[in-house]
Amino acid sequence: MTTGPSRLTPHPPVSMNAAGGRCTVVVGCQWGDEGKGKIVDVLAESADIVARYQGGANAGHTVHVHGDEFILHQIPSGILHPGKRCLLGNGVVLDLPKFFAEYDALVERGIELEGRIGISQRAHLLLPYHRALDHAAEVRAREKIGTTGQGIGPAYVSKSGRRGVRVTDLGNAPRLERLVERAMGDALQELEVGRFAATELEAGVWAALALAGRTLPMATDTGREIVEALAAGRSVLMEGAQGTALDLDHGTYPFVTSSNTTAAAAATGLGIGPTAISAVLGVVKAYTTRVGNGPLPTEFDEEMGERVRELGGEFGATTGRPRRCGWFDAVQARYAARVNGLTGLAVTKLDVLDSLDEIRIATVYRVDGELTTEFPADTWSLSRVEPVLERHPGWRAPTTEAREISDLPVEAYSYLARLQELTGVPIEIVSVGSRREQIIHV
Ligand code: IMP
Repeated sequence: MTTGPSRLTPHPPVSMNAAGGRCTVVVGCQWGDEGKGKIVDVLAESADIVARYQGGANAGHTVHVHGDEFILHQIPSGILHPGKRCLLGNGVVLDLPKFFAEYDALVERGIELEGRIGISQRAHLLLPYHRALDHAAEVRAREKIGTTGQGIGPAYVSKSGRRGVRVTDLGNAPRLERLVERAMGDALQELEVGRFAATELEAGVWAALALAGRTLPMATDTGREIVEALAAGRSVLMEGAQGTALDLDHGTYPFVTSSNTTAAAAATGLGIGPTAISAVLGVVKAYTTRVGNGPLPTEFDEEMGERVRELGGEFGATTGRPRRCGWFDAVQARYAARVNGLTGLAVTKLDVLDSLDEIRIATVYRVDGELTTEFPADTWSLSRVEPVLERHPGWRAPTTEAREISDLPVEAYSYLARLQELTGVPIEIVSVGSRREQIIHV
């Protein structure tokens, strides 16, 4: 027997990203609402593609440009930069009527969208019965999650239960009809609604599906687009929705959303391999907020909560609900740094703390008398932890005009240095206001 050479010549290159295009994931590191929309908007300037990889209309990404406020729910935050391509990956659950309402509202405000949005052929549709199921589950539950009511959980249940309807199905009318009738039959049975409500729900479903003609021209293979762009040396931003502590696997289960929000989900949610990702930028607020139920170890008392909520405008972008507020939780942030494999940190809303006399950071937890630096897997233990708080003097001066790190008061600088030390991740960006230009590149 003759034998060949002892090694295979590596071809094609081991990394799909060998040609050098930069691929950055921007991920929320707390309970969502960290200000990812603004950070993505700022970074989108130098990106070619901006892509969403999970979640749906539960997200509310707020961006301020030239005095105008835009709240984006399903369309990536890069859309406000003319000419950038924006993708919605297979990991997203797409609510078509809401998507097109958002699309049309942007066009009405003068944003040119023609040919700029691609939707994965593999993305699942969120249909009106998912919203009805979400609502019914919350009404029935003894321990409510406090969902956004957008139908997100039931849409992912349909997907993992292999009863989902995908964008690609919109192109095959008989198959679509079969799939939808079966799924709707199951939903109606579960909902136990009367004939009138059932007819109304059915009408809503068919109205959503009638948007097939507008959707199909946008259908694409997001993974192929991204890999080709990277191979051509172009750069891609992957925009996470919600945050690490709301991740289905790594969050405060069951008080979580129904998708993986963490950085690795960018690969599965867009159809690329993890080797294509070059950097993971974690976004944290300079304090902590949470909307919905579940533990929040550093939560303020009522008076302080009210004060910071007003200072930070902490009301949900999707539901308008007041957000619960607390001190920065370094135990939770360190956990997020590990779970996401962060390479850099963006700290947002530093300016919200400008008027405080003293600022605190949770550095460790006390659980049943024992100190721990670990974020517990057991959500009920987490609701009993006592955070050990470190005190820092406030700077009591405006930071909103700072554009260099050296413009910051020394106390603000020290506070950031401590966040960097505690998380073990270099701070790359600090945001000091809602406007695009209120940003410090460190
Ligand atoms: P769902 O994603 O609507 O199922 O809600 C599940 C949990 O995630 C609830 O606590 C929501 O308040 C929370 N949540 C979902 N989306 C967001 C978001 O974009 N920001 C903050 N919290 C969110």
